[in-house]
Order: sequence, then C-alpha cells, then structure tokens
Amino acid sequence: MLKKTRTLSIRGFTIKLIVDSKVYPPSYTTKLIAENLPDLKNLYVLDLGTGSGILAIIASKLGARKVIATDISRKALSTAARNLEINNIENVELRYGSLYEPVEDEVFDMIISNPPMTPSIRPFPKYTWGGADGRMILDQVMIGARKHLRKHGRLIIPTISLVGIEKTWSLLGKLNFKVNVLAYGWNRFGRRLLEIKDYISKLEHADYFYDCLGKPCWRVILFEAIRS
Ligand SMILES: C[S@@+](CC[C@H](N)C(=O)[O-])C[C@H]1O[C@@H](n2cnc3c(N)ncnc32)[C@H](O)[C@@H]1O
Repeated sequence: MLKKTRTLSIRGFTIKLIVDSKVYPPSYTTKLIAENLPDLKNLYVLDLGTGSGILAIIASKLGARKVIATDISRKALSTAARNLEINNIENVELRYGSLYEPVEDEVFDMIISNPPMTPSIRPFPKYTWGGADGRMILDQVMIGARKHLRKHGRLIIPTISLVGIEKTWSLLGKLNFKVNVLAYGWNRFGRRLLEIKDYISKLEHADYFYDCLGKPCWRVILFEAIRS
C-alpha cells in the first residue's frame, strides 16, 4: 500500500518522511535539535528513541561515520527503515529495545535523544508518554549516558518546561557532566496538552507561560552535556 509522505527542509537538506499515525511525527523539539546539532564529522552516534528516524538521517547527512538508531516501537523502526531507504541513507543501523539495552557495552562519541516527555497518568499518546511527571525516560537516558559515552563524548538532550528544566540541569551536574545550552525555544500547547493542562498545572516542576494572545506555551532548552 502506498503511504503518505511529507517533505522537510532542514539545514539545507531535503528529507522525505513517511507519515504513520502510530509513529511520532517530527515536532517543534525535533526540529530544534536538528537545527542545532553540532559538527558530527566522523562520529559514532547513538540516536535513542529514533521514531521516524529523522534525527538519525540528519546525523548521517551531517557527516556521522555511523549511527545506531533505537526504539521500543516496532512500528517506528519499520517506518524508520523505509525512511532511510527513500533518503538513500546507508550508515544508519536500526535496533529494537528499551533505553541502552540494544547497545549493551558500546561507547559512542555522541548520544542524541528526544525522549517522550508528555507528563500524564496514562499513555497519551504512547510514543510521547513520559510517565506521571514526564521524566520517566528522560532521567534514565541521562543516567545511562555516562557509561555509553567516551571521554569528552556528548549527550544532546532537550527538556521541556512542563517536566522541569532545572531538574535536568541539576541531574546533569550531579552526574558530573559539563553542561552547555545549545538552543532555546517555546511553543503553544497543542490539542493534547490543552486536554491535560489542569493536571500539568498541579505538577511541582512544571512551568509554562501565556503568549500575547493568552495561549499557554511551554519552553524548551536543548542541552549539550559533555562527559568528563
Ligand atoms: C518524542 S519521540 C522522538 C522521535 C524522534 N527522535 C524525533 O525527535 O522526532 C520519542 C521516541 O522514543 C521512543 N521510546 C519511548 N520509550 C523508549 C524507550 N524506553 N527506549 C527507547 N525508545 C523509546 C518512542 O517510541 C518514540 O519513537
């Protein structure tokens, strides 16, 4: 069956992606990461939670030597496989599994991850569900990163204000990373976030603001954490 595709233009690259309702579509945060990825020439890269494969494709186009892209969704991996094919990407290897399971004892120059961060009681939707406080996967990605980065290797990871930007900053510090901010952005609540706004406003670390039209907006910071 022919699938619908969309075309994205990022950093001068034109990328075609298959659209599938069960796979996370490139979002505002995905694009912020893609636009701000540092130099990747010859690097061995892990894209943890690849979804459509978009960040692995960009990493390859930006010169990565090899990219391992993982996900716990088989549907995401089969869609990513098609996306690699239609974009003629040959140095990305897809692996199934949770967090660092698929890479066991491997060590990378760079780990890129855009973890699911929607804070909610129930999976909503599953591919972006970050547990009750939104940090279920995010914190585990940071905690596991040290073991899977070479010395001076870098973790590129965003945090949205709905799950506590300060919490990420302090956890990275506790884990002995040197932390830089690569980018900042903000975006309006989408339909799904509006539905759970009352729940979000009760979360201790959640923060949001209203724009000039009175619409609620979340912030996002893109962190670069360098392993000592
Ligand atoms: C927010 S989406 C990001 C997708 C893509 N990297 C992007 O930026 O557009 C998060 C992805 O992580 C995957 N995921 C969720 N829990 C995971 C886990 N424990 N281990 C690996 N991947 C996970 C989801 O299936 C989803 O594809």
